[in-house]
Amino acid sequence: MPGRFFLTTPIYYVNDVPHIGHAYTTVTADALARWHRLLGDDVFFLTGTDEHGLKVARSAEALGRTPQEHADQTSARFAEAWELLDISHDRFIRTTDPDHHAAVQAMLQRIKDNGHLYKETYAGWYCVPCEAYYEPDDLDPNPDGGPGLCKIHGRPVEWFEEDNWFFRLSAFEQPLLDWYERCPDAVAPAGKRNEALGLIKGGLKDISITRTSIDWGVPVPWDPGHVFYVWYDALINYATAVGYGTDPERFAAWWPHVHHLLAKDILRFHCVYWPAMLLAAGEAPPAHLNVHGYLLVGGEKMSKTRLNQIFPADLVEEFGVDGFRFHFLRHAPFGPDGDVSYEGIVAGYNADLANNFGNLLSRVATVVAKKCDGIGPAPRPDSPLAAVAAEAYAEAAAAWEAVQPSVALDATWRLIREANALLEATEPWKAEPGPEVDAVLGDALEVLRLVCILASPALTRATVEAWRRIGLEGRPDEQRLPDAAAWGGYPGGLPVEKGGPLFPRIKPAA
Ligand code: MSP
Repeated sequence: MPGRFFLTTPIYYVNDVPHIGHAYTTVTADALARWHRLLGDDVFFLTGTDEHGLKVARSAEALGRTPQEHADQTSARFAEAWELLDISHDRFIRTTDPDHHAAVQAMLQRIKDNGHLYKETYAGWYCVPCEAYYEPDDLDPNPDGGPGLCKIHGRPVEWFEEDNWFFRLSAFEQPLLDWYERCPDAVAPAGKRNEALGLIKGGLKDISITRTSIDWGVPVPWDPGHVFYVWYDALINYATAVGYGTDPERFAAWWPHVHHLLAKDILRFHCVYWPAMLLAAGEAPPAHLNVHGYLLVGGEKMSKTRLNQIFPADLVEEFGVDGFRFHFLRHAPFGPDGDVSYEGIVAGYNADLANNFGNLLSRVATVVAKKCDGIGPAPRPDSPLAAVAAEAYAEAAAAWEAVQPSVALDATWRLIREANALLEATEPWKAEPGPEVDAVLGDALEVLRLVCILASPALTRATVEAWRRIGLEGRPDEQRLPDAAAWGGYPGGLPVEKGGPLFPRIKPAA
């Protein structure tokens, strides 16, 4: 049954240049959004940028720009990266958007009215790149003898003292535990759920949610001179985008049936603070939080300071948009950490795209040209591939549902391999034209039709091209599942075009 599907990525800090870590979450979300559009769901796919806070204000100052000018320029880099990667978001939200200001003020005012905020002076060690206070125990020793080092950024924290509004997070330990018990699947995979539960059971301290040291943020409506701390501002973007504070009917229609995608670095904010804030505002916590691991380069998380960042454009130039998307969806399973290597990308591209998918299309087109005068025959209703196709569809559908694109694509590629195996076993290129050759080629064309649909969330371009070459009208991403997955949709009698290689082989570097 088609339904609503609301999907989000984290909103990325404008201070970073979009790298393949950001792209990983965004491409995964995009593929899920495309899958759900195939199912006929009313999809709302949200991404955007996180633009307030001290880090942005300081960078802007260093460059002689206003924070707004700086945010405009740097936010655009994310919008451009997502355009390059065929990301089909429905809204690119910016925390500087006026409706977002309204939503932040409305939600925090509600939390205050519900009695969950109080004012106190706060002093502590602050990591500016993290925009977070740390306890001394959370820091690494500083070899230079200065303040401790932030574990994420490896740089010294700074001493901050200010008047703050605090959120009574400590009062939400039990409500959060109750929610985790009531909704055992809300945080996935299970390992990440346990991690979040561990944080809650370890005890929750009240948290400061405003700053007076800067003015680059959303003003606290009841206390001039204060702005909301960037994280509480940022989390609320997910509610802004579906009308919180501006369109109550829309909000009621979409919330809380959201699927948040994020990596484990921001698990605490999403799986502890955000549900607590929503409970405090009298709203339901998010229905689904899907947490993945890190893409590692040379065994380490990418970071500016380690100089190990890889940017999407570098890889797209060599592997194309499809090659880029496919690699991360098929070969970086959602959940655990995974190492990225150039050799790995080349090997996967050549095996799955050039050899399997590309080869199936070019073989079929070549033999149809030679033995069937270029007109594709229809598949057999009782083809041995029909059962394989049904199984591949069922597995792929379950895997997309479980946010496991690598498993979904593996199932889809099994169908390609079986079709190639059928061709190798029957060798239609050696046989005389006739019903037997037609039968095998019709089956293979039907597999290509199915694969174009099932792989379209990953391969936004090649599937459109292959669809056209086998003579079909329209586009694979306009089809509707599950009907379009039924065996026998390729009508036969269509002109099949040979064309060049869909995925030219890439020579591994010497
Ligand atoms: N602005 C906050 C998020 C606020 S959401 C309400 C933030 N921004 S960020 O730019 O640092 O983005 C973090 C996210 O980027 C991660 O959670 C993940 O989705 C993605 N990734 C960044 N580096 C990554 C890897 N090395 N590997 C995988 N994902 C990575 O935190």
